[in-house]
Amino acid sequence: MELRNRHIVVTGGTSGVGLELVRLLVAENRVTVVGRTSPRSARLREEFLSVGFITADLLEAGAARAVVAALAEDEVVDGLINCAAIQCTPHFNDPDFDPASIPREIATNLTAPCELTAALLPRLLAAPEAFILNVNSALALVPKPDSAVYCATKAALNAFSLSLRAQLQGTSVRILQAFLPLVDTPMTAGRGTGKLPADRVARDILAGIERAVEDNDIGKVALLRKLHRFLPGIARKIVARG
Ligand SMILES: NC(=O)c1ccc[n+]([C@@H]2O[C@H](COP(=O)([O-])OP(=O)(O)OC[C@H]3O[C@@H](n4cnc5c(N)ncnc54)[C@H](OP(=O)(O)O)[C@@H]3O)[C@@H](O)[C@H]2O)c1
Repeated sequence: MELRNRHIVVTGGTSGVGLELVRLLVAENRVTVVGRTSPRSARLREEFLSVGFITADLLEAGAARAVVAALAEDEVVDGLINCAAIQCTPHFNDPDFDPASIPREIATNLTAPCELTAALLPRLLAAPEAFILNVNSALALVPKPDSAVYCATKAALNAFSLSLRAQLQGTSVRILQAFLPLVDTPMTAGRGTGKLPADRVARDILAGIERAVEDNDIGKVALLRKLHRFLPGIARKIVARG
């Protein structure tokens, strides 16, 4: 599907990979970002005057309904990119572990993409060809000891995407995923080495959408997926080191 003259709805467009996706898409498409009121969203709206912005906090129940309500009644959507996510890293037995982070992480990383999918599906089905791209992680395939809930949400997002793909087979809506390695964004500030730049990752994600790659393994994820199939213990050790 050529990404030109499309209407694409993007979550997480204020930062990191999502911001780079907006930067690339906006030249030839209509982009609507779903996000919170914040200095980052104010900067986004200043930088990209043509980008539409729907104010919604994905932690709040009803965010998906608010997104639909903000669209015009007959507005078609050609693509939904679920990119927003949070990652909390303390171990469960750390003194500063806050159990309140559990529902926040699940709501942002899993519930919100599922609810936005349900809410926007009629609009996507109204387009001649459309896609939903769920931004996923290598950690969905090989979990690491840190970020237990994050890994669980990404594994669940993978299961959701695979089921939904089967449900929508034969319709005009393709369900795609991009599996990211470590990327240099605010989410990973101060962590890890050998990170990919967010602009390169965004380019690879969009190239995958254009080629309708169902599960787009970015960078070293393709190798990790293979290694995990044959030598799962080694794959887990590599991820735990990263
Ligand atoms: N960075 C990596 O190494 C890496 C690796 C694998 C996968 N990924 C995935 O790539 C995607 C993008 O990550 P990133 O690294 O670019 O993260 P990031 O720079 O931290 O950006 C996260 C985005 O999510 C938005 N967001 C968070 N909570 C929200 C909420 N309650 N309501 C609305 N928006 C909310 C943030 O908006 P605000 O500006 O309002 O905070 C921001 O736009 C995520 O799905 C992540 O899991 C990242």
